[in-house]
Amino acid sequence: MGEIVRLQKYIAMCGKASRRKAEELIADGRVTVNGEKAVEQGIKVEIGADRIAVDGEELEMISKKYYIMLNKPVGYVSTVSDQFDRPTVIDLLSEEIRTRIFPVGRLDYETEGLLLLTNDGDFTYRVTHPKFEMSKTYLATVGSGLTVSGINALRRGVKIDDYKTSPAEVEILDADNTATLVKITIHEGRNRQVRKMFEAVGVKVKGLRRISIGTVELGNLPLGRWRYLTTHEVNYLMNN
Ligand code: URA
Repeated sequence: MGEIVRLQKYIAMCGKASRRKAEELIADGRVTVNGEKAVEQGIKVEIGADRIAVDGEELEMISKKYYIMLNKPVGYVSTVSDQFDRPTVIDLLSEEIRTRIFPVGRLDYETEGLLLLTNDGDFTYRVTHPKFEMSKTYLATVGSGLTVSGINALRRGVKIDDYKTSPAEVEILDADNTATLVKITIHEGRNRQVRKMFEAVGVKVKGLRRISIGTVELGNLPLGRWRYLTTHEVNYLMNN
């Protein structure tokens, strides 16, 4: 008998989606088990025995897992395909790893820097789920007007949309009359969070680059290039 796992885990193990996305696929009625539509989240399936399909396409277990770091340039979307036909981060990967790999979270179109990609849904879950509070560090070039009280507010947490951000580490690296270079570390990953945090204290972000996730650093990887993560980096991100 094969291993018994929950349906959303199975879908993630096949590299189709993260566990959270898999739950959405199930809720949307897009998943079948042995030809029957799966409607309950808790369903368990047997690896190697049950046939699972999403949108009618049968899933296969991943034989090889990929863990990649990309230095994303501005002007690329962090999705597998784009409704406006803009270039995607997948276009920057080599042919042999393009299939079935997906970005781990997102960077905005105008943001550059460290983006992870994988076909391992469990890895995505560990890195992106808010409960693991994975830290992410950015270098932000912001316009003039950042005050001491603004910096303290960023450190304590600011109100954006309908929530208050959790405490952030903020360090001023450089400043002149027109711009300030700020290193900021956050432990969440809401949509456009860093830009909105600076907006909340009255300054505009002119440039944004992610330089690390946890202790995994972009280092000197050139813009637009990618590399495999080391085993050490994968283990750290999986167990953090
Ligand atoms: N915060 C942002 O505002 N944009 C990103 O791409 C990532 C974090």
